[in-house]
Amino acid sequence: MKTLKLPILVLLFATTISCSQNITKFMHDKNLTIDQKVDSLLSIMTLKEKIGQMNQYNGFWNATGPVPSGGDAEKKYKDLEAGLIGSMLNVRGVKEVRAIQKLAVEKTRLGIPLIIGFDVIHGYKTIAPIPLAESASWDLEAIKNSASVAASEAAASGINWTFAPMVDIYRDARWGRVMEGAGEDPYLGSKIAYARVKGFQGDDLTAPNTIAACAKHFAAYGFAEAGKEYNTVDVGLSTLHNTILPPFKATVDAGVKTFMNSFNELNGVPATGDKFLQRDILKGEWGFKGFVVSDWGSIGELIAHGYAKDNKDAGRLAAIAGSDMDMESHAYVDHLEELVKEGKVDEALVTDAARRILTVKYELGLFDDPYRYCDEKREKEVIGSKANNDAVLDMAKKSIVLLKNDEVSGKKLLPLKKEGLKIALIGALANDKNSPLGSWRLGSDDNTAVSVLEGMKKYTGNTLTYKKGADVTVGETAFIYDLTFNTTDKSEFAEAIEVAKNSDVVVMVLGEHGFQSGEGRSRTKLDLPGVQQELLEAVYAVNKNIVLVLNNGRPLAVTWADKHIPTIVEAWQLGTQSGNAIAQILYGDYNPSGKLPMTFPRRVGQVPIYYNYKNTGRPIPLEDEKMVFWSKYSDVENTPLYPFGYGLSYTSFAYKNLVLDKNEIPVNGNVKVSVEVSNTGNHDGEEVVQLYIRDLIGSSTRPVKELKGFEKIALKVGETKTVTFTLDKETLQFYTANNKWEVEPGDFDVWVGGDSNATLKASFTVVE
Ligand code: NOJ
Repeated sequence: MKTLKLPILVLLFATTISCSQNITKFMHDKNLTIDQKVDSLLSIMTLKEKIGQMNQYNGFWNATGPVPSGGDAEKKYKDLEAGLIGSMLNVRGVKEVRAIQKLAVEKTRLGIPLIIGFDVIHGYKTIAPIPLAESASWDLEAIKNSASVAASEAAASGINWTFAPMVDIYRDARWGRVMEGAGEDPYLGSKIAYARVKGFQGDDLTAPNTIAACAKHFAAYGFAEAGKEYNTVDVGLSTLHNTILPPFKATVDAGVKTFMNSFNELNGVPATGDKFLQRDILKGEWGFKGFVVSDWGSIGELIAHGYAKDNKDAGRLAAIAGSDMDMESHAYVDHLEELVKEGKVDEALVTDAARRILTVKYELGLFDDPYRYCDEKREKEVIGSKANNDAVLDMAKKSIVLLKNDEVSGKKLLPLKKEGLKIALIGALANDKNSPLGSWRLGSDDNTAVSVLEGMKKYTGNTLTYKKGADVTVGETAFIYDLTFNTTDKSEFAEAIEVAKNSDVVVMVLGEHGFQSGEGRSRTKLDLPGVQQELLEAVYAVNKNIVLVLNNGRPLAVTWADKHIPTIVEAWQLGTQSGNAIAQILYGDYNPSGKLPMTFPRRVGQVPIYYNYKNTGRPIPLEDEKMVFWSKYSDVENTPLYPFGYGLSYTSFAYKNLVLDKNEIPVNGNVKVSVEVSNTGNHDGEEVVQLYIRDLIGSSTRPVKELKGFEKIALKVGETKTVTFTLDKETLQFYTANNKWEVEPGDFDVWVGGDSNATLKASFTVVE
């Protein structure tokens, strides 16, 4: 990519900067409402200037998509000066943001500030766990707090707007972007989507530590066929409304300021050109007042989809469909004026898009002070602060899921004793300071995560010997992935096996490198990449006391490990404080409390696999049914390896006395469901109490189970608490065959327990 250093250009332009904003005094008039100011501004804007607001260019480094031709820096600066840019992405750092903002404010006719966007997905510089991991905490306050920490760092770096949260629902672990969302469930996904928007945007968007959020990718991107990135999506209306859209709606309820549309086509119409999604549902039915940005180049991609004949046609379709801002397709800046003049796009649509964008800029306080996010002192103090590191450490511990902790010779391996053990630590990921940062970490510095080795070294009572054993991949790179990266080198197996042989416990950190999941990183296998499975088996052959710590951005089908390895810890990619969090869990200074937000399959062939599936006309009647005529595979069970909602603790919990306050309710009524949960083990701990329902008969079929409530509670050893949920219209309704949200009369089952296999059950009826 061609680059031109910003400071040089700033100098270049410095001599020609003129103050032009006096014609726009009203822009700062405190007596006017934002709507009035935007109206006045629009009334003096030329068509070209309005279109300029709809144009977003990438900055000068960190391209997060293919760079279009004509995307060179010189053109961008020319367009900036001409007022033809409303926003830039991937510009960061107070110095750089200030410089570019200065050009927009002082050089253009109207002095309209830019809105600066960036992918602050899970942390800015202090990296938090990947969003899938955070979601495993089921801790909405912690998730919200993590988003506000990320917002405060990004804002301190001059950024006003994050392209997060990703609220796509998905069920196929082959898709690389499962790391970026909240998992498979629309109810959990909606709660988390809401929390993340509140975390980024805070209560006051003009505050210097909050930024505008962006719900993405609208819509159905997570349903890409075969989990292949950017692939076609074909889903029915019921799945769209009941499963895919609820988290997006939740972000609108949370006051999200922007949406991003998606790369995929949905039922034959590319989402970026989809009027039904953007105008009818989002801006119409939901009354969304913010603006929609396209995904990177997704307007231009309407051509490759076979939907538009050229970039001009693509611009026409996208503008009509309701895409307000063009990210790096150059379709609006190059063609929209002509399209309006030719009568192909109504100018009112352009005015509406510009109005939406300007409103958000006002709401961010950018008109009052375009440099309010540009404070070098704050930048130094906030970014990477101790408080932020403490927050991401807390989030990381809460994100870890204990998958297995069986006894070996009458004893569980975890938590580890703090003294007297000989521990072998094996696996390249155990000594990796880069991979834990995940694949979205553009604001961070490479190799800044605490490794597991470093985290474990802080516990000095045991002897710890590290051996790599094998690499995960050969080399690593953020934006290139090549099949040849898969390593076959086993030359370091022998020394790892030797150390394992002479140890009391072996901690093996295996899984995927941080760059093996994320955008553009779909896989067809869900195994331990490279020779790691062989390494695991070779070590197991000499020492069965293995604690397997998984680092991964997606569910893995670790079926062999589940059968043989006594202890398995799901530690995802946990960010900057990864190694400290893992060590504190292994040593029992934090009792694991995470629960899976996504089903783990036994084999890749089972995906898409999810807990809230439909029963079909031929569900297996009995577990041991051998006849072929049932909905099943002939070579693997129907059940997953680990179900949605699953996760263990160092203690144990018992559920009893599930009580409903009514057996019958009217369609607008509610029923209270209570249950007693006790800590029956030897450690204080936290449990995510989960409530599932089944609507037995529907005008459109309902899933066998649906999460409709959860609460994370802390219980001391021996303590019992009663947890009460309320099921009401909001939780019992669904998008029915009448194409509306309704509660249908009929029978409902309800379960409460510690995962989606909960068996404690009751029933009630909704009557007309
Ligand atoms: C493409 C991704 O799909 C989107 O999520 C991201 O925000 C943009 N690139 C900008 O980097």
